[in-house]
Order: sequence, then C-alpha cells, then structure tokens
Amino acid sequence: MRICLEAASAAPSIHNTQPWLFRLRDGGIDILADRRRRLEVIDPQGRELLISVAAAVLNARVAMLGCGWVPILRVFPNAAQPDLVARITPGPAAAPDPTVRALAAAIGRRRTNRRPFSDLPLPDPVVTELTAAAAAEGAVLATADTAGTEAVLALTRTADEWQRADPAYREELAAWTLPPRGRSDGVPAQAFGPQDERDTLPMRDFGLVQPDLHRRNARFEPDPTLVVLSTEGDGRLAWVRAGQALQRVLLTAAVRGVAAAPMTQALEEPLTRQLISDQAHNQYAQVILRLGYGRATAASPRRPLAETLIAEPRSAACRSDVPS
Ligand SMILES: Cc1cc2nc3c(=O)[nH]c(=O)nc-3n(C[C@H](O)[C@H](O)[C@H](O)COP(=O)(O)O)c2cc1C
Repeated sequence: MRICLEAASAAPSIHNTQPWLFRLRDGGIDILADRRRRLEVIDPQGRELLISVAAAVLNARVAMLGCGWVPILRVFPNAAQPDLVARITPGPAAAPDPTVRALAAAIGRRRTNRRPFSDLPLPDPVVTELTAAAAAEGAVLATADTAGTEAVLALTRTADEWQRADPAYREELAAWTLPPRGRSDGVPAQAFGPQDERDTLPMRDFGLVQPDLHRRNARFEPDPTLVVLSTEGDGRLAWVRAGQALQRVLLTAAVRGVAAAPMTQALEEPLTRQLISDQAHNQYAQVILRLGYGRATAASPRRPLAETLIAEPRSAACRSDVPS
C-alpha cells in the first residue's frame, strides 16, 4: 500500500498543486480530489484538477500490478461522496509482465521536461506505442501534422497572451511559483525552463511574476512534435479517463526515453479549446503534450504522505467529503 501511495504522489499535476488525498479503506486505497487546491482562474470547472487526480490513480494501479496484485478499480464508487474519485483494491495475485515492470519503474523518474528538445523526430513505432497507451485507457492521442502544429502553436500563443495580461492569472501563478523555502508543492524555480528566443514555442512562463529572477532564453526545436489527447465527451468521467490516459502515455514515453511537457494554456480558455476540439464529433481536447529528446531535468517536490493520507472515517455517521 505504501508503494502504491508513493506512486500516486509522484503523478504530474497542474502547477504541481497535487490536488489529491488518500485513504486506506477496506484493504484498498481511496483517492479523493482535494478541491481546496483547484486553480480558480485557469481551471474553474476542476477539469485539470480531475485529470491530475486521475494521473495519480493510474500510477497507483500500475504500482499495484507491479507488486503482483491485479487492481480492481471503481471510479466514483459512492454517489454520496462526489470527491471520492477512485477506490482501488487488490484483486487476484499475478506476476507482473515486463511491460508492467517497466512502467512501474518509470513512475519515479518521469518528469515534466521544459527544456529544448533535439531535432530528432520520434520513430513511428514509438508514436504507435504512445497512441496505443492512450487508447488502452479510452482516449485518443493524435499527432499534429505540420499545419496542425502551426495552428495549435498559434492558438497556444493567443491563450498564453490572454493569460499573461490577466492580473488574476498572474496572482494565481504567483501563489504556486513563489514558494516559501521548504515548500513541498508548486513549481520550483529550477523546473521553470527557459523561454523560446524566437517566441515561436509558447512555453508557460512560470517566472512571469518573479521580476528578480533571471529568465533565460534558449533556442527550441524548430519543428516540435505536438500531440493532442482527446476524449469522447466532456465531464468528470471523461476527465478521469483523460488523466489515466495521460499518465499511461507519459510513463510509456519515459520507458522509451522520450521527454514530455504538457502545454495546456489553449485548453484553459474556452474559445481556443473549442477550436482545438472536434465537438461536431463529440471529441474534446484535454491535454496538449510536446514530445522529444532532451537533457534530464530537475524533479519537483511532493507533499509527504503525512499530509495527504487522511484517516479512515470512524463511522457511517461521520462519513463526508473533504472539508472545504
Ligand atoms: C493537466 C495538466 C496540465 C499541465 N499543464 C502544463 C503547462 O501548460 N505547462 C507546463 O510547463 N507544465 C504543465 N503541466 C505539468 C505540471 O506543471 C507538472 O506536472 C508539475 O509541476 C509536477 O512536475 P513533474 O511533472 O516534473 O513531476 C501540466 C500538468 C497537468 C497534469
């Protein structure tokens, strides 16, 4: 159980908010959304919050499989507890296969890599494997062609400009990037990454609200590989699918030595998200990823289990969701 909880904690999350809580229950793990950590400005619906929590769910599933137990997953198992996103209990024993072992081993070394990538394209078999990883979790991973990449970059630049100009965005960004020393959440300065010297790749500027910080520029790859992860439909079940698919894609990428960085500004603005989605066919864009080969990057901190593991409710009478 400890291995599964540590694995869940290692998941990526929007602005490293780590919006999850864990509970040991009925021999398994409950994973809850902690809505106090929702980003009100860029994520009013809690879409990216649930994607983040679901990434933690996937990690816990993979860790349980890696430990030799087939996980039994129930999503939103209790209508009376809407913040209880998943209950994962160990099912039958089964020796993990090499794929599971590789994915489990990648959980601790996966990072968001905001550095420039090399000009090397991703080999077709790797793209196929990443697409299959998303499909296995019920999502679609589409690799943008040249025109698609230009369009997604243009929409991301537009959304990025809107966000930068919004004082509420800057205030929210400050809350998650100006950590007092010793803080175990938020994005630390060593993980910010440089800005593109040609202003083509709109990397999210985590140093925007830190005037004293020297913000580096760098030359980024001229033809970036962008993929869009989409789900059929939108809403909390689709977001939980998207988060698990995202994390299965990210772990598969890590196994193959592929660096990855979400770049989601355009999906946080309704107008640009609509233009990237294919709503006529009920397909909703959930995450945009930049993929490639780059130098290793620094780890971001995680909250200890002492903060995220909450006590089992003592009786049905005091069962409730996370206090707000
Ligand atoms: C839904 C979602 C959206 C994200 N969007 C961005 C983004 O736009 N730009 C970025 O640099 N990182 C983005 N990230 C990555 C997080 O900032 C990162 O996961 C977090 O800081 C923890 O760092 P780690 O992934 O290296 O463990 C996103 C992550 C998630 C789950």
